[in-house]
Amino acid sequence: MDREQAAKRVRELTEQLERHNHLYYVEAKPVISDQEFDFLMKELEALEKQFPDLASPNSPTQRVGGDLTKEFPTVAHRWPMLSLENSYSREEVAEFVRRVEKEAGPTTFVMELKYDGVAISLTYRNGELMRGVTRGDGEQGEDITANVRTVRTIPLRLRGNPPAELEARGEILMGFREFEALNDLRGKEGEERFANPRNTTAGTLKLQDPKVVAKRHLQNYIYDLYTVEMPSSSHFENIRRCGEWGFRTPDPKERFIARANGVEDIMAFISYWDGARHQLPIAMDGVVIKVDDLGIREELGLRAKSPRWAIAYKFPAENKATRLNGVEFNVGRTGAITPVALLEPVELAGTTVKRASIHNADQIAKLDLHIGDMVLVEKGGEIIPKITGVDLARRPQDARPVHYPALCPECGTPLVRDEGEAQHYCPNEHGCPPQITRRIEHFVGRKAMDIGGLGGETVEALYKAGLIHNVADLYDLRQEQLLALGKGWGERSTQLIIDGIAASRTVPFERVLFALGIRHVGETVAKKIARSTGSIDRLAEMSPEELTGIGEVGEVIAASIRDFFTVEGNRRIVERLRNAGLVLVADAAAKGPESDKLKGLSFVVSGVFKTFTRDGIKETIEAHGGKVGGSISRKTNFVVAGDDMGPAKKAKADELGVPVIGEAEFRRMIEE
Ligand code: IVH
Repeated sequence: MDREQAAKRVRELTEQLERHNHLYYVEAKPVISDQEFDFLMKELEALEKQFPDLASPNSPTQRVGGDLTKEFPTVAHRWPMLSLENSYSREEVAEFVRRVEKEAGPTTFVMELKYDGVAISLTYRNGELMRGVTRGDGEQGEDITANVRTVRTIPLRLRGNPPAELEARGEILMGFREFEALNDLRGKEGEERFANPRNTTAGTLKLQDPKVVAKRHLQNYIYDLYTVEMPSSSHFENIRRCGEWGFRTPDPKERFIARANGVEDIMAFISYWDGARHQLPIAMDGVVIKVDDLGIREELGLRAKSPRWAIAYKFPAENKATRLNGVEFNVGRTGAITPVALLEPVELAGTTVKRASIHNADQIAKLDLHIGDMVLVEKGGEIIPKITGVDLARRPQDARPVHYPALCPECGTPLVRDEGEAQHYCPNEHGCPPQITRRIEHFVGRKAMDIGGLGGETVEALYKAGLIHNVADLYDLRQEQLLALGKGWGERSTQLIIDGIAASRTVPFERVLFALGIRHVGETVAKKIARSTGSIDRLAEMSPEELTGIGEVGEVIAASIRDFFTVEGNRRIVERLRNAGLVLVADAAAKGPESDKLKGLSFVVSGVFKTFTRDGIKETIEAHGGKVGGSISRKTNFVVAGDDMGPAKKAKADELGVPVIGEAEFRRMIEE
């Protein structure tokens, strides 16, 4: 096949695949079998391989995920992404309707579901998906286009006659079924289960590997359209038009969207969904009521963060009564004890709940929890289900009070509770088995040393077999030792582990530091510390005062770092990791300046920026050799001001004659 023929065939296949994708995912009316679909996809893949220049970024082949994304650039929204005013009672909704109609006269409203997912802005130019951006702070978000392309209900190319440039906004969601399946899989692989579909969606969209995103089966609904010349002055009609262009839009037949005239229609819609929401395959937490007419919207205008022409009615958090069968006391990596309620399984907000968190001993006392009690379990927006109450009237005769253990349930060491802290700890850091294995698990985890082939179960097995007692022991492992463990430890899987361990020797210092699992030193803090100290040796000798000099390190973190390095055992482990060849110094490139254009200059940063985050602009200044100060003084050379710089700072700068520059000017300083 020559190039011209190939180009023609690529066009045909692209069109067919997108049409079948739409029929399958948006309309749920497939007309070809999965196998036929795969067949067409394989043909397209082969052609793109043979003629790489024919592969467009919006090719259907990208639905399964393109290349790894290094970072998500920050992008300013052309129209700010507002939020909605929330209301929790029907009376507030009625009040909203009265207020609107007082200003605008009798008004038509549109009612939609309030999807409980993650907002997304989708920009199309000449019908092609150009960009998918998160809401971020409403002014600017992150460009996650490669991940967005894997969402099958989002068209890569529009059909019909859409405006040359448009932005569609909507919600990306994970269905309950997909969520449960993913969690089951994670459970099997010894990974921590996700809390709920919404957080999982948010986390998934920030993954750097679009191929993993593709496997998570996200979906979406469109709820808003922005374009210079709107097709209609009615929101309802505009959403319908979005549907014609291939977007997945709420279906009036399913009552996902409806028009209302007057407050009665609205209350009927709320009542309907109050009951029907439990049968939905996706999470929603309320109903959104919007003025239909765009002209009236304009008249009503906006508040600072939300429009005056819309309101969200939120359903109360769901709760249910179920029996408390027992309480488990789990020991975490840091020795912290968390009580977990074991429940008679109940269906709650779309998922089966078997466990709930009970925060600490005080909570148990406050609720006077007894095994056998009927407890109220509640699932709020983003939290793991929690126990909110006990139905004392239904307490069985033989109910036994829950006793908080005095000894560690795993190793028998007396538990301690620090003054002012709610949590109990097992202090037996180096002898308590779950603390040891969870520390090693944390060490090998994806965000830490990322040792493929090792997970919760394998670590535990190696510990039980006496092969590892701490993270340094991993580097002494030999393949023969693993093979000798017998069933399940084959040539391939053990090689994977050995290779993974070897590869971890190149993991940068900031992640090694995070992997060590020093209490309170999370990913971000580890990064900051690694960049500003430059090496583990320097860190080990720093005083608490020096440590708190690092941005983001407070007294608690500083004390925890000091504690870590005063323990002889920890120092020995660090020594062994050094001998094993791990990276214990920061990469010069990561630490050293990008340029010295700002050398000798001192800056103060104030306000909100369009193309930088607040930390981002500070890092940029430092990366170019400049210094960032907290307050304006005579030594300050420039104040970089974003939107709404504080008036006090402005006055101070004027008084001292310090020049105030904008974001664009700052960019020129580093780019020229
Ligand atoms: S309209 C100004 N419609 O709720 C209009 N938003 O609190 C704002 N949301 O970030 C968006 N379902 O992620 C709109 N049918 C719906 C919605 C919806 C869910 C989310 C959206 C937004 C948040 C605002």
